[in-house]
Amino acid sequence: MNDFKAEPKEIRQAMLAAVERVLESGWYVLGNELTDFEHQWAQLCGVQHGVGVGNGMDAIEVALRALDIGPGDEVITTPMTAFASVLGIHRARAQPILADIDTTTGLMDIASAERCITPKTRAILLVHLYGQVRDMTAWVALCKARGIELIEDCAQAHYARLNGQVAGSFGRAGAYSFYPTKNLGAVGDGGMLVTADAALSERAARLRNYGQSVRYSHPELGLNSRLDEVQAALLKVRLDWMDGFTARRQAIAQQYRSGITSSKVTLLAAPQEPSAHVYHLFVLHCPEREAFQKHMAAQQVQTLIHYPIPVHEQPPCLDIPRDPQGLGQAQAHAATCVSIPCHPQMSDADVAAVIAAVNVF
Ligand SMILES: Cc1ncc(COP(=O)(O)O)c(C=O)c1O
Repeated sequence: MNDFKAEPKEIRQAMLAAVERVLESGWYVLGNELTDFEHQWAQLCGVQHGVGVGNGMDAIEVALRALDIGPGDEVITTPMTAFASVLGIHRARAQPILADIDTTTGLMDIASAERCITPKTRAILLVHLYGQVRDMTAWVALCKARGIELIEDCAQAHYARLNGQVAGSFGRAGAYSFYPTKNLGAVGDGGMLVTADAALSERAARLRNYGQSVRYSHPELGLNSRLDEVQAALLKVRLDWMDGFTARRQAIAQQYRSGITSSKVTLLAAPQEPSAHVYHLFVLHCPEREAFQKHMAAQQVQTLIHYPIPVHEQPPCLDIPRDPQGLGQAQAHAATCVSIPCHPQMSDADVAAVIAAVNVF
């Protein structure tokens, strides 16, 4: 599903030079590399501010806490996501509420989210699952009409754009992960909160650094979650390659869309425009999933499931309040979804082999 070792040699050389530069600088945490990368990434997202943190989950926690969302407050999100989305809400000590999804995309269903709104609702955490931004006008309008914050979980959607607007800039804040497998990945953990709101950014920068305002002064209790200089320097290098890598993912997805003809699998809905899906994952539905995965493995093609157990079926989450109409679509999706390889290091022959393997099934 990924092959970092197959990346072009030039990337490795540039990355080694970046690490050397940081070592030479003698400054390893909260320095110029991070400031540079924060500016670059925020600018690309079309907002003023970026606050580098330790990982994507912390970016969610920090965004919520910087908005004073915590105990007694409810945050609506999807059960079809990485566990970290919901854990970030828990860590902010707010109450997650789970809305159902649309199985044709895997994304949270807006009517279901609306049913989850109560007087305690402070925010919707909208996950751009698999790399797709969709229906943003409707989400922005809903949050505005109901007086709640829109926070975007952009961990899988680096530089996905709808009508020219970039993931992370639609709501009050966007939370990015730079986990190695992400479309822009570090060599270790990393994350960033992006926002157009200067006060929010300032509060987030304080929270990530023990709640410290100026040195040794702590007006509040924060966390220690800082994107370090080495990772920031490496991410700057990898950013130069991101557009090309994303274009390759999109081209592979296009080949899958036209080449996969097996009646035993169903593709998810096409994006609203090509730039709106950056294909962090290429997911399809297959009712005979177990047999499909075995067949693909026999053809030397790896598959994974994103995600086999929805959040509300995880032991610590059984009691999380949810859409009164249930989470049937999320459950149905979890039972049949399967991801096939879609990464920039795949050759045309690899792509053709995956298509052939699916179609033989
Ligand atoms: C949708 C989603 N949200 C949040 C996260 C959390 O990011 P991290 O692993 O950097 O904490 C991830 C990645 O695992 C993710 O895929």
